[in-house]
Amino acid sequence: MITTTINELSTLQEISNFLETNSGLNISSEDINLKLSVQRRMKESNSESIDQYKSILQSDTNEFKKLYDLVSTTETYFFRDLRQFRALEKFLLPEIVNMKKKGTTRRPKVTIMSCACSTGEETYSIAMAVKRSGLESMADFEITGFDLNSFAIEKAKEGIYTPHSFRERKASIDEYFEVHGENRKNKMVRSDIKRMVSFHVGNLKHLEQLPCEFINADIIFLRNALIYFKKSARLEILANLRTRLDSNGALFLGVAEMCLPDHLNLQSTEWNSGFFFRPTNATHLVSKKSKVTTTTIKDILKLVVPEASTVSKELTTFEKLPDKKLTPVKVHKQVISSYDKALWHIERKLFDEAKAEIVSHLKNAPHDLQMLSLLAYLYTEQGSLSLAKKTCQDTIQIDSLTTAPHYILGLIEFKEKNYTDAIINFKKSIYCDEYFYLAQYYQGLTYQLQGKHDKAQKLFMNTLESIDYHCEHSNDNCEHYMGASFFGNTAHTIMTLCLDHLEDI
Ligand SMILES: C[S@@+](CC[C@H](N)C(=O)[O-])C[C@H]1O[C@@H](n2cnc3c(N)ncnc32)[C@H](O)[C@@H]1O
Repeated sequence: MITTTINELSTLQEISNFLETNSGLNISSEDINLKLSVQRRMKESNSESIDQYKSILQSDTNEFKKLYDLVSTTETYFFRDLRQFRALEKFLLPEIVNMKKKGTTRRPKVTIMSCACSTGEETYSIAMAVKRSGLESMADFEITGFDLNSFAIEKAKEGIYTPHSFRERKASIDEYFEVHGENRKNKMVRSDIKRMVSFHVGNLKHLEQLPCEFINADIIFLRNALIYFKKSARLEILANLRTRLDSNGALFLGVAEMCLPDHLNLQSTEWNSGFFFRPTNATHLVSKKSKVTTTTIKDILKLVVPEASTVSKELTTFEKLPDKKLTPVKVHKQVISSYDKALWHIERKLFDEAKAEIVSHLKNAPHDLQMLSLLAYLYTEQGSLSLAKKTCQDTIQIDSLTTAPHYILGLIEFKEKNYTDAIINFKKSIYCDEYFYLAQYYQGLTYQLQGKHDKAQKLFMNTLESIDYHCEHSNDNCEHYMGASFFGNTAHTIMTLCLDHLEDI
């Protein structure tokens, strides 16, 4: 079924619509993940044709769950966006407990919902933040995670994690785990942390059907799930969650999900760069003592993605390339100085000097992929597009998994209005580096020019997510990336452009 007939394509479209109606997940009928998942479920359900499978899917809730488990993206890890967990532990939890204690002798209860929690890392991170806050002696905490992916929820309940779930860990959390299994690489969440949380299978689209109560929640986490939804579905879910948030509560969203509509009466707020949203009439917002600042989305951007002092002009066209450094491409330390010199010259349009630097370097290291990419970039800046293309192709021949040449080829095709080819090349460069936000941004822009607004929206969201990823990890990784010192500026500009486009769509 990978080569799809017209009939199969239209049935896949119906399946994709069915998934979207029932889960919110906006997955293209051409998505290879959808095709492979349907293929697998057809085999396992003994369906003789895709039409037969579609009928089973539409009539059997269990089949829907099985297909959903296969197609949904459950990527997550402990303390994802540490800044938000710090704000939770150090600011929000103490504030909420104190507020609830006022004027009553009863022990307060704090309700925290971790919506679309995937395999539970987020929910357990919340429990660990509660432990760290030391507030357990003063209040009862009810922490609930739910997700539509039943397989993920089983894993969450099990609480056993491989090193993958700890890959971006910045907080020292070893004390909350026990070593698990013979190879001693896996870890199991300590039983006292497990007892603090409960997990359920639940659908964001049908909160009223959750097996647990979800009203007046003090804290709601809903991060990195709505990015897979269309705007209308996102708004519907956010509006529904808003009615379940306590008037002094807080909502945590992923960076890519910050474009909240005004009518939800939520105010974006930050505490030491950890941002969250609170009802505009919340008591704390009128308290002069509060150390938090209420912010606009653009303010948040500045916090999340610091703007460099040398702010570049608005960048919307190919001529005003947003990134002079082809970031983020890994480099070998010993070539940085030569590379940086050449880059410095290119940025100042001193093309002869740049070329001399590059050529002299390539004499000793003819296969240096980064330098070859820079040469291609130099040619594009000079307007020698056929030379640029040839250099990209030569570089790809040496190593087809080099990110930059695919990206440059994409930009050239974009400039020449060959949008289909531009997209193919941007896709390839994203394949080489899944967090390459520039290619994601331009792919989105290309879709927008083609009038494919759904796809454009998805790409702009991915761009925001990737920028957030880079910003969050800049301390660890930036020095290994080309042009790291300019990174903040570029990312900030692209992020602003993305938000503008998303507002337009
Ligand atoms: C990328 S994970 C995010 C996990 C975690 N919140 C985080 O930020 O690390 C997205 C999760 O959203 C879940 N999800 C998507 N649509 C959902 C829905 N309609 N109801 C509940 N969960 C949903 C997926 O199953 C997946 O586990």
